[in-house]
Amino acid sequence: MINKNPKYISNIFNEISYKYDFFNNLFSLGLHFLWKRKLISLLNPKNGEEWADLCCGTGDMTFLLNELVTPSGKVFGIDISEKLLRIAQRKSNNLVRTVIYWEKKDIFDLDTQIRKFDGICMSYGLRNLKNVEDGIQKVFSLLKDNGRAGFLDFNHSKNNSLPSIFQKIYLRFIVVPISGLFNLKEEYSYIENSIKDFPKGTKLMYIAKKIGFKEVKYKTLFGGQMGLLLLKK
Ligand SMILES: C[S@@+](CC[C@H](N)C(=O)[O-])C[C@H]1O[C@@H](n2cnc3c(N)ncnc32)[C@H](O)[C@@H]1O
Repeated sequence: MINKNPKYISNIFNEISYKYDFFNNLFSLGLHFLWKRKLISLLNPKNGEEWADLCCGTGDMTFLLNELVTPSGKVFGIDISEKLLRIAQRKSNNLVRTVIYWEKKDIFDLDTQIRKFDGICMSYGLRNLKNVEDGIQKVFSLLKDNGRAGFLDFNHSKNNSLPSIFQKIYLRFIVVPISGLFNLKEEYSYIENSIKDFPKGTKLMYIAKKIGFKEVKYKTLFGGQMGLLLLKK
C-alpha cells in the first residue's frame, strides 16, 4: 500500500514543483495537452458557467476552462500543493482576461452545502486521492443537478497486456532514470505504484453508477495508456 496521506502527497508535489511542467511535457512529448483539450472539448463548458479544476496543479485545465467560460463564468483552480499553485498563479498573471480563482485546499474539505458547480474536471488527480470512491462521491456532491464531470488519468490496463507492459517499461526505464538525474527518482517512482492501486475503467464506471451518476462513459486514449471517465449527474 502506498502512502496517500494528503500531507505526504502535497510534499511530493511541492518537491517536484520546479520541474513539474518540464517533466510533463518531456515524458508525454507534449501529448498531455492534447489529452486535456480532448477532455475539455467532450465536457463542453460554456460562457457563464461555474467550473472547478480539482487537483489543478499548475493549472493546464484551469486555463482551458477559463477560455471557454469567460466573460460571465467563473473557474476555480483548487489544489493542496502551495508551490504548484504559486506557479499556476504566476502564469495567470500574464493573461489579459481571467475569471480564475486559485484556492489552496484539500478537495475533501470543500463545503458541499455552499459550493455547487456546473462542471468539474480533474486530470491526474483521482489516482492521488486517499480514496478513489470518496473522490468521485465528493465530485458528485459538489455538482449541480445535470452537472458534468470528467477525469483524465492513466488507464489501468489488464495485467500483462501490451499497453500494461509498455506502461511499466516506459515508467521504469525512462521516467524514473531521467527524473533521477534531477534527484527526483523517489518522487517519480511513486507513479507506477499509484497506477497499480488505481481501479480499471470498468470499475470506475461501476463506482460512478453506484454513487448515482445518471450518465457514465469511459474512453481510452493513446493505445490504452490514458483513460477518460465522463459523468453526468
Ligand atoms: C499529478 S498532479 C496533476 C496536476 C494537474 N491536474 C495536471 O494535470 O497537470 C496531482 C495533483 O493533485 C493534487 N492533490 C492530491 N490530493 C489532493 C487533495 N486531496 N486535494 C487537493 N489536491 C490534491 C496534488 O497536489 C497535485 O497537484
